[in-house]
Amino acid sequence: MKNLVLFGFMGSGKSTVGRLVAAELNLRFVDMDRLIEEREHRSVGDIFQKDGERRFREIEHHLVRELSEQQGLVIATGGGVILNPENVERFSRSAVVIGLRVDGATAFARTKTHGHRPLLKTQNPLESIGQLLEERGPLYEALPHVVESSNRSAAEVALDVVEIYLEQVAGPH
Ligand code: S3P
Repeated sequence: MKNLVLFGFMGSGKSTVGRLVAAELNLRFVDMDRLIEEREHRSVGDIFQKDGERRFREIEHHLVRELSEQQGLVIATGGGVILNPENVERFSRSAVVIGLRVDGATAFARTKTHGHRPLLKTQNPLESIGQLLEERGPLYEALPHVVESSNRSAAEVALDVVEIYLEQVAGPH
């Protein structure tokens, strides 16, 4: 079975939705950030702090290359995987790629109680979210499929994602 790759901003629900979708489709779920942390034996925050964002992006990119060679996975990317066009291109070659759309207020509400995201450890996280969304919004929107996640439950979003995936793997009727 083709991989299903979820892109989207922090707080768009990639991991929660990805888990539900994987269970529904009977595919294996991979959370890129968690896998990087397991392999590196340290947190994403630690990698950013000690080695810098650039190093994290390299690790991320290597994992994209590895995972795009595999099959039968539901992959929750990190929010910044979209930044490298080669990442999007690699996944798009063999997977169904879906973006989850989230507005700034929802992203803030969903992330504010978790302190682990290095890019939101700023004086004004809501403002940082606005800036990042301005930069990245057009990249997420350019993906072949985009599902709205603001003001919707993970279960609702997962239903849409499953439908798109099944349509895509079935091919044109
Ligand atoms: C990042 C998003 C995070 C994580 C890292 C950088 C980003 O993942 O990869 O903190 O650049 O948007 P989530 O989208 O799962 O929070």
